[in-house]
Amino acid sequence: MQTLHHIQALREQLKAARRAGKTIGLVPTMGNLHAGHIELVNQARRHADIIVATIFVNPLQFGPGEDLDSYPRTLAADQTKLAAAGCDYLFAPSEAEVYPNGREKQTIVEVTGLSDLHCGSTRPGHFRGVTTVVSKLFGIVQPDCAFFGCKDYQQLMIIRRMTQDLCMPIEIHGVDIVRDEQQLALSSRNGYLSPAELAIAPMLNRVLRETAQAIRDGQRDYPALAAQALKQLEEAGFKGDFMRIVRRSDLQPANASDTQLVILSAAYLGAARLIDNLELDL
Ligand code: PAJ
Repeated sequence: MQTLHHIQALREQLKAARRAGKTIGLVPTMGNLHAGHIELVNQARRHADIIVATIFVNPLQFGPGEDLDSYPRTLAADQTKLAAAGCDYLFAPSEAEVYPNGREKQTIVEVTGLSDLHCGSTRPGHFRGVTTVVSKLFGIVQPDCAFFGCKDYQQLMIIRRMTQDLCMPIEIHGVDIVRDEQQLALSSRNGYLSPAELAIAPMLNRVLRETAQAIRDGQRDYPALAAQALKQLEEAGFKGDFMRIVRRSDLQPANASDTQLVILSAAYLGAARLIDNLELDL
């Protein structure tokens, strides 16, 4: 695997691959890679000839007081994992390479509406930062397909919408959530958890599964179910952010006649903000 830090060098490599008729799959990340990220690479290898992973801790998607400075940066270990997974190129640019005119003077890409809901309401400007950097990565790599985890459910939906709205000829693949044995969704931010918090963290997924079961059993008062689930989390030591039962099509509150649902959740545990979700077909 080759690691490249400059757009021009990466473009030259990819131009040769493209000329040879190879398809290109892109896996964007912020590094500190775990088995969830590696699963994206594994899926990418099934769909594309050449795999490009990117590592860039994108300042534009962090709000004031968030963990931009403390976000774990583990490039050497990440390179070893990506190479072992069969990644061909790692693009790890500096901030100046991505935002040569400064973060403030950057063209912004925003999927309006969807970006303001749920995580976007707790983290104003977050998704605008995500869509701006992902559209730049799409422009740099010009992949045939790109891979995103379903863990960040709203992010995946927003990127799908951006790609459609801007007529980007890129196939977006959603990859199932990779979990540990306790069903905790793997996340770089799990590293912020103390051993005691780590023992509590799997409760987030357990509460989601119990809520889904209650819905399968016929309960349809979604706001009450969600409030009850959040209360359970708070009693266990979480600080709830939100728990919402929404339609998959537009992430708006589900009503009793909707059949394709997703339960979205976010909660703080110590220094970590954890998210998880569960799709449900009725
Ligand atoms: P990051 O949090 O590093 O995640 C990179 C990709 O890995 C995302 O698509 C995310 O959904 C996926 N991922 C993380 N944990 C996962 C898990 N347990 N199972 C499956 N997939 C998982 O998401 C970002 O970075 C950034 O917002 C980015 C898209 C790179 C833009 O900066």
